[in-house]
Amino acid sequence: MKKIIIANWKMNPKTPRDASRLADKIGRGVKNIKSVEVVFAPPFIHIPAIYKFKTGAQDCFYEKSGAYTGEVSPLQLKACGVRLVIVGHSERRALGETNEIVNKKLKAVLGTGMRAILCVGEAERQKEIAFPKIIRDELHEGLSRIKKSFFRNLIIAYEPIWAIGTGRADTPKNVYEITTIIRRELYRMVGKRIASKIPVLYGGSVDDKNSYAFVKDGAVDGLLVGGASLNANKFVKLVKAVAGL
Ligand code: 13P
Repeated sequence: MKKIIIANWKMNPKTPRDASRLADKIGRGVKNIKSVEVVFAPPFIHIPAIYKFKTGAQDCFYEKSGAYTGEVSPLQLKACGVRLVIVGHSERRALGETNEIVNKKLKAVLGTGMRAILCVGEAERQKEIAFPKIIRDELHEGLSRIKKSFFRNLIIAYEPIWAIGTGRADTPKNVYEITTIIRRELYRMVGKRIASKIPVLYGGSVDDKNSYAFVKDGAVDGLLVGGASLNANKFVKLVKAVAGL
């Protein structure tokens, strides 16, 4: 499976010009890499500025259109060339997004034919619990009554909240263990044939020094990168490390 690395720029950079410069610089650096798919997830307003690149969105609403002030629909994103939408990021959940809302958003995104990344992760690591209930619930409730055929466009990202933006990345060994349980849970839900094709990513303080270890020893299918994706040199190194260059 081709590795996938997503640059989640969160609420950065400031101007469309900065966004296009950053994407151009990264784009030049990773141009010849074939074994890794790089996707940029900028704020909505910068999507047109980087239309030349493979683009994702950080969120969306679940309705198709209508009187929903401030919201953006999956269809609008698709019309702007967006291929993938991050859903249920912990920073959205912290603002009140529930598993029920995440479920509606996943259905809406997958219904357009775009890919969706469902983010899951615990707030705290509890040593005595191998697989926190919160992750199980996020998977089961988030994916409740989603058509089996939609699962081919699904990606799961394991992002332990305590590792996000803290510089305290998880260990590849632990990521291996948790993502193995996530994969097993997916087998139970949709069967091995479909589940084995769902990419499972890791996110949380990934940088150019640890990216390779997560993919190799953590055995994940890719990475979701925040802070390090805002520094073009660092991000290009991070991608090259995964590509084995
Ligand atoms: P950091 O890479 O800044 O820890 O952020 C991770 C993240 O939230 C990606 O979605």
